[in-house]
Amino acid sequence: MIYKKRSCSQIVIILVALIVFTFTACKSLNQKTTAEAGLKDVSEFPIGTAININKLINDQALMALQISNFNSITATGDMKMRSILPFENEFNWKKADTLLYYANKHNQRLFGHNLIWHSSTPKWVEEKGANDSLWLGEFMKDYIHKYVGRYKGKVAGWDVVNEAFESKGGAYRKTFWYNNLGKEYIANAFRYAHEADPEAVLFYNDFNIERDTSKLDAVLKMVEKFKKEGVPIHGIGFQMHIRMDTPNEVIAYSLEKAAETGLQIHLSEVDIIFNSHNDERLGGIENYSSITNEMKLAQAEKYKNLVLMYRSIVPKEQQFGITFWDFTDRDSWIKGFFNMKDWPTIYDDDLKPKPAYYGFLEGLKVEIEKK
Ligand code: XIL
Repeated sequence: MIYKKRSCSQIVIILVALIVFTFTACKSLNQKTTAEAGLKDVSEFPIGTAININKLINDQALMALQISNFNSITATGDMKMRSILPFENEFNWKKADTLLYYANKHNQRLFGHNLIWHSSTPKWVEEKGANDSLWLGEFMKDYIHKYVGRYKGKVAGWDVVNEAFESKGGAYRKTFWYNNLGKEYIANAFRYAHEADPEAVLFYNDFNIERDTSKLDAVLKMVEKFKKEGVPIHGIGFQMHIRMDTPNEVIAYSLEKAAETGLQIHLSEVDIIFNSHNDERLGGIENYSSITNEMKLAQAEKYKNLVLMYRSIVPKEQQFGITFWDFTDRDSWIKGFFNMKDWPTIYDDDLKPKPAYYGFLEGLKVEIEKK
C-alpha cells in the first residue's frame, strides 16, 4: 500500500539515495580494509621479516603482527651453520623444520639464511678445517648438498655466501673459508647449492654495498665473472642495514648498478638506525639516547623513500622482495650486537606501529611510474 502511494519521482529519489548509500558504504569499507591491511596486502612483491622462531611462536601478539604483515620469513639465526650442525655429525633440523611448518601454515615463503658465513662457522669445523683443507672442501660440499637437498622445493631461495668481502673497499675478506679454500669457495658453494636444488634462487648477500661503491663494484665484478663462467648465481642481497645519514642518492645509484646485472635484488635485512657503529660487534657509537617525534617522522620518510627507490629502480621481474631484520625495536639485534640504544624498525618496544610503519606502507601504496 505504502509503495503505491509513492510517486515516480519519490522512487527515483529513494533509488538514487540507495545507490549513493551503497557506494559510500562500500567506499568506507574499502578504506577500512585498506587501513587494516598488512604490508603484504598492498605490496606487489613479497614482504618478509627475519625472526627467531621460538620467540615468534611463544608470543601471540608478535605472531598476530607477523601473520598480518608478512608473506616471507627468514631465520635470524636458526638456519645458520652453528645452529644446524653445532657438533660433528649432529644435524639439528628442529628449528628449520618448525620454520617450514610455520611458513606453510601461514602461506609464507621460507628464505634460507645462510649456508656459508665466517661468523657462524661452528668451532669444531674451524678446528678440523684449519689443518685439513681437503677435508674442509669436502665438508662444505656435503653440508650444502645435505642441507639444501633436505629442503629442496621448500626453501625458495638461499643466501649461499654471506659477507665474503671486507667491510670497506673491494678486497675479499680474509675469513676462515677464504684462508683455507681460497676465493674459489664462493663459486663452489653456489655450484653445490644449485646441484642440490636447481629451482632455488641463489643469492650473494652483503652489507654496506648500498653505500660503499668500491665494495659494490667488487661484488658486481664477481657476479659478472660468475655469469661468464656459468656459476649459478641468481640474486644479490643488499642487507640494507642503513643509517639515517646514508644518502638516498647513493642507495639509488647502487640499486641501479646492481639491477643492471639482471639478477634478482633482495633487500634482505632492512633496518634504519640513528646512531652509528664501526661494523664490529660492540662497536656502537651512541649519539642519541632517546628518540623525539621529529626523529620518528624523519625515519618514516626514510623508510618511505627506500621502498620508493626499490619500486622505481628495480624492474618488477627482479624484485625478490624486502625483508626486515626483526620488525620491532624490542627485538632488534642492533642494541645487543653494538651495545647501544636505537630504534631501527617499524614497530616500537610495545609492539605499536611507528610512523616508520606508515611511511613504509605509504611507500608501497603510492602510485609510481612502472619500470
Ligand atoms: C645477526 C642476528 O640477528 C643476531 O641475533 C646474531 O647475534 C648475529 O647475527 N648480518 C647478517 C645477519 O647477515 O645474519 C646478522 O644477524 C646481522 C648482520
